[in-house]
Amino acid sequence: MRTVDDLLAEGVSGRRVFVRADLNVPLDKTQAITDDGRIRASLPTLQALRDAGARVVVAAHLGRPEGAPDPQYSLAPVAARLGELLGADVPLAADVAGEDARARAADLGDGDVLLLENVRFEANETAKDADLRGELADRFAALADAYVDDAFGAVHRKHASVYDVALRLPHSAGRLVVEELDVLRRLTEDPERPYVVVLGGSKVSDKLAVIEALLPKVDRLLVGGGMCFTFLAAQGLGVGGSLLEADQVDTCRRLLDENGDRIVLPLDVVCAADLSDDAQTTVVAVDAIPDDLKGLDVGPRTVEAFGRELGGARTVFWNGPMGVFELAPFQAGTRGVAEAVAAVDGLSVVGGGDSAAAVRQLGLDESAYGHISTGGGASLEYLEGRELPGIAVLERGDA
Ligand code: 3PG
Repeated sequence: MRTVDDLLAEGVSGRRVFVRADLNVPLDKTQAITDDGRIRASLPTLQALRDAGARVVVAAHLGRPEGAPDPQYSLAPVAARLGELLGADVPLAADVAGEDARARAADLGDGDVLLLENVRFEANETAKDADLRGELADRFAALADAYVDDAFGAVHRKHASVYDVALRLPHSAGRLVVEELDVLRRLTEDPERPYVVVLGGSKVSDKLAVIEALLPKVDRLLVGGGMCFTFLAAQGLGVGGSLLEADQVDTCRRLLDENGDRIVLPLDVVCAADLSDDAQTTVVAVDAIPDDLKGLDVGPRTVEAFGRELGGARTVFWNGPMGVFELAPFQAGTRGVAEAVAAVDGLSVVGGGDSAAAVRQLGLDESAYGHISTGGGASLEYLEGRELPGIAVLERGDA
C-alpha cells in the first residue's frame, strides 16, 4: 500500500491533494466540540502535507444527515478547531463539491488547507449504486491531483469520498491509517499471550460477529456493559429491567457452551430504578437482580475480577463501556476497567468510539495506553476479518 510518505517523497509542492479525514466529533447542544480527539489524530498527515507545500483539500463527514444540507451537521465548528490546532486559517467551503468548493480549491496557495462542507450533505456520498457515487467522486477528483485516505474511522464505509474517489486518483494511505493498521495487525498476527479482550456497550447483536471471530484467538473474553445481561439470561439468571435482547439468548447460550472457559461474565452489578445523575443505586450479585431494577454498570467485585485477568495479560483490546459512564452513579465500572487496561504491561489498545470517549471524559491519561483507535466500527470490522472497502481500494494499484 502506498503511503502519504511515498507521495511526499515524490514532491507535492504546489500540487492539490484531496485528504479524506475522519473529523466526526461529538458536539453538544450549542454546537461546541466535546472531544476533539479525531481532529488531533488527523494533524500529522495534514501538517506534513502543508509543510511540503501541498494545497490541501480536506473532506469529512459529521453525523448522519439525510443527504441534504442541514445546518446542525455543518463542519463549521470543526473548521474553526482544525484551524486553531494547525495554527492556520482553515476556510470552510459553502458546499461539498460544487461551485464554491471548486473556486476555493482553485485559489489555494502552497501549504493552504480548505475544508469541504459535510460530504453527507450530498445524497450520492452514501448511495448504494456505484454510478451515483461515481457522479460525486468525479467532482471530488476534479478538485485535486492525488488522494490520501486518513479517515480510519470510515474505512469500513463504501462511500464516494472513501472508496470511489480513490479509483479516480493516484492514492495513498495517511499516517493515521498506517498507524491504526499496524496496531490491528499486531492484535491479529501472533499477539503476545495472554491475550485478553474486554467488550462492553449496549447491544450484544452488534458484537456477535466480533465475538465469534475473536473467541478462537483470545485467552479470555471479558464481557460487561448492557450486552452482558443477554449472556446472564442465557445462564438462566433473571435480569430484572436490564437491557435484554431476547432473540440473542440462544446464540449467547451456544457461545457459553462452546467457550465457557474463556468467556468471563460479571459477578455483580450496580442497579437502579432510573437513569439519572442522582439515581439511588444498589450493588447486587448477578443472581439476585431485583425484578424492578435495571443493571446499569458492573459492580466492584467484577472490576476486581476483570482487573486480575487484565493484570496478567500481555495483549489487551478493549471496546465498549462497562456501564452508563456518562452518568456519575454508573461510571465506576468503566473507570476501573479503563485503569486496569492502562496498567497492562504489554500492548493495550482502546478500540474507538465510546471507550475512547470514556478515557478522555473520565480524565484518564491517554498516554498510558499503547494505542487509542479513532475507529470503533472500523476496528471491530477489521478484527472480524471483514474486508474494509477503504483499505481494499488503497491496496489496489493506481488506475
Ligand atoms: C464513526 O463515528 O465511527 C465514524 O466516523 C463512522 O461514522 P458512521 O458510523 O456514521 O459511518
